[in-house]
Amino acid sequence: MSDILEQLVGLLGAKSVLVGDDISARNVSYWDNSPLLAMAIVRPESTEDLAAVMALCHQQGQNLVPQGGRTNLVESCLSTADDIIISLEKMNNIVSLDEVNYTVTVEAGLILETLQNTLAESHLMFPMDFGARGSCTIGGILATNAGGTMVLKYGMARALLLGVEVVLPDGTIISSLNESLKNNTGYDLNNLFCGSEGTLGVITKAVLRLWDQPMSRSTALLACDSFENLTTLLKTFQSRLPGGLSAYEVMWNEYFKLNASSLMPGREPIASDYNYYVLAEYAGGDQALDGEAFNAVLESAFEQSLIVDGVVVKTESEREELWQIRDNPEPLEHSRGEWACFDVSLKISSMESFTDQLKAQVDGYSQVNEVYIYGHLGDGNLHLAIWAEREGQPFIEDIELLVYTLVKKFSGSISAEHGIGLEKRKWLSYSRSQNELALMRRIKTTFDPAEMMNFGKILQ
Ligand code: LAC
Ligand code: ZN
Repeated sequence: MSDILEQLVGLLGAKSVLVGDDISARNVSYWDNSPLLAMAIVRPESTEDLAAVMALCHQQGQNLVPQGGRTNLVESCLSTADDIIISLEKMNNIVSLDEVNYTVTVEAGLILETLQNTLAESHLMFPMDFGARGSCTIGGILATNAGGTMVLKYGMARALLLGVEVVLPDGTIISSLNESLKNNTGYDLNNLFCGSEGTLGVITKAVLRLWDQPMSRSTALLACDSFENLTTLLKTFQSRLPGGLSAYEVMWNEYFKLNASSLMPGREPIASDYNYYVLAEYAGGDQALDGEAFNAVLESAFEQSLIVDGVVVKTESEREELWQIRDNPEPLEHSRGEWACFDVSLKISSMESFTDQLKAQVDGYSQVNEVYIYGHLGDGNLHLAIWAEREGQPFIEDIELLVYTLVKKFSGSISAEHGIGLEKRKWLSYSRSQNELALMRRIKTTFDPAEMMNFGKILQ
């Protein structure tokens, strides 16, 4: 055993330092089932233990890679055989729940679904949800500033975070576990660590904002014939329903058709030949009143021909099936081996020109192509999956250049919610100026002068 491993065992005990088969028994990620690579996985049981580990690694110039549930989409926590992985899987407790002040303090290794289930017992909600809920950790959610399906109403992770405890690369513990909604005392450390993808330190605890669980939920799958009607419909919902919608998800025809026919073959909820499909959801405090208000919007939208077809959800299992059509990535994954995948931000008002130009340019690149478009339209966030055939040549980098050039032209963002990681690093200058990048580099150097924290992620 190498020196550093012996010292780590000395600090944490053998059970908390995994090596060999205990590492390779794990997968690289949800998306890549090859064996995980690392020199060791350390599993501290307290912030102080982690601080000791990081101070030791700092002295020895040892690279560290923090990992949560490994469901990230941009290689934010990819490790090499020379790295030591930090896993907070043993730091997964709810520290305290404050029902009066609507906050919960948690350890960063806590699984999102565990938090959701515990809060539900008190009729409370941490308004963050997405498909990886059963494996993703609060630390991963915060480190990547995750989005999900309720951003329209509640915001991304940054908007839900009140305080953090962090261990810096040299082992310094920064305890900034603020519990107040208002705390205007200088630079915002939460926002700096949240979204830094483990490049500035390791989040060990957090204070999160809570809301009451909604007492009502109204969900509908709606069909629109024009993009203009999609945007007018969104405005109609937002102006007529108190507090606004919690989700306004849109699927372009090709995506809906593929997912509905794959997931509900022979019993698709509505015809598959409309141009756009909306999954709209409203959460409120009274099922009878809210359902009536929601249906009244639908009736007037139908009268004005903003929508041409639709189904209103009656049971929870119907709701889950409709959300599967929106959320389930498997039909796309199974239909082709390789996709160029994107998570871009655009002004809603630019989306139609963007998608028209995108399709024309992809056709210009190769007549034989597939373009799937879907996403959180209400948040100004589209996901794209593109495949193109060009004499058997790899197409992904060509399509990336095409898409990101177009995103830049429309002043959009190359990453709306998935982050940068390794995968999007080389395109960062399409969304950030040279001065912004230089300032980010100065921040990184200030926190991590030895470049040992999650090496190479976000910045070169
Ligand atoms: C989604 C993931 C890809 O919205 O962000 O389905
Ligand atoms: Zn998304």
